[in-house]
Amino acid sequence: MKKIAVFTSGGDSPGMNACIRAAVRSAIYHKVEIYGIRRGYEGMINGDIFPMDTQSVANIIQRGGTVLKTARSKDFMTPEGRAKAAKNLKKHGIEGLVCIGGNGSYTGAMTLFEEHGIRCVGAPGTIDNDLYGTDYTIGFDTAVNTAMDAIDRIRDTADSHNRTFFVEVMGRDAGFIALEVGLGGGAEAVFIPEQANRKNWIEELFSKKRRRKSFSIIVVAEGEEEGGAMELAAKVKEKYPEIDPRVTILGHIQRGGQPTAADRLLATRIGAASVEALLEGKTNVACGIVNNEVSFTPFEEAIYKRKDINPQLLKLMDVLNV
Ligand code: F6P
Repeated sequence: MKKIAVFTSGGDSPGMNACIRAAVRSAIYHKVEIYGIRRGYEGMINGDIFPMDTQSVANIIQRGGTVLKTARSKDFMTPEGRAKAAKNLKKHGIEGLVCIGGNGSYTGAMTLFEEHGIRCVGAPGTIDNDLYGTDYTIGFDTAVNTAMDAIDRIRDTADSHNRTFFVEVMGRDAGFIALEVGLGGGAEAVFIPEQANRKNWIEELFSKKRRRKSFSIIVVAEGEEEGGAMELAAKVKEKYPEIDPRVTILGHIQRGGQPTAADRLLATRIGAASVEALLEGKTNVACGIVNNEVSFTPFEEAIYKRKDINPQLLKLMDVLNV
C-alpha cells in the first residue's frame, strides 16, 4: 500500500485531532503517502481530498474539534454516492482509509469495502463511549470531565438555594457519560437508557422519608426512556409541588474543549496503530484499546454488539446513596 487517507465522520469529539496527527505522522514514518479528506464522506464524494505532511498536523494535538471537519452524509448512504466517492479515491491512487468516527461511520466504511474494495481501519471517535471493542472511545474522558466541572458549579448554587437539579448529559442511546459523571460528580441518582422501567423512582428519591439532603443533583442521559431531564423534573413537581426543581441541559458544551491527557494518549495510540494495521493488510476492523493493549475488532462486531455498562459502577451509585 503506497497511498492512504484519513478522515473524521459523524459527531466530532475531543482528541480527533490527536488521532489525525498520529495517523499522518505514522504514515510518513512508514514511507506511505497520506491524504486528508475534509467533511468525512461528503468530502470523499465531492473530491475534497488533499495531500498531508508532518507540518499539516503541527500544533493540533491540544485542540478540540477536528481540523478535517466532519459531517453526517446522506448521499453516502446511496450506491451512487459511494460510487462517486470510490472514483475520487481511486483517482488519487488511495488504497486504504483510516476512518475516525462512530457506528454510522464504520457502517459506511464496511459498505465501501464490499462494493469497491477500498480497505479501511476504524478509530473510535465519539464522546458516547458506546462502541464495542474498546474500553474507551476518543473524546469520552474529556466529555466526562467537562460535564463534571459543570456539575461542581451547579452544586454551589444548588447548595445555596437548597434545590434539586436535574442535569442532562449527552449519550444518544447510552448511559456511559451519565454514569461516570454521576459517580465523579457525587450525584444522588443517574437515569440511563440501560436501566429502563424504574418503578416508584419519584417516591424513592423524593418522599419525605427520603428527603434528608438539603439539595440534590440528579444526572440524566439524554437517551433516557422517560423523556429526559425536563420530563423527569415535571413529574417530580407534579407529585410533590413543594419541590421546585431546576433543569440544566449541558448539550454540545460536552463535545468541545481541549482533550484531556487520557484522550490525547488514547487517540495517539489508536491513530498510529490504525495505519500500521492497514499496512499489515487488515481491513474492516475497528482499532481500540482493551486492558491497555491495542486490539482489533471486526466492524460487524463493533457495530452490532452492545457494549455493556459496568454493573459494578451502577451498584456503587446505590451504595453511595444509602
Ligand atoms: O454521538 C455523539 C453525540 O454527541 C450524541 O451524544 C448526541 O446525541 C449527538 O451526537 C448529537 O448530534 P448532533 O451534533 O448532530 O446534534
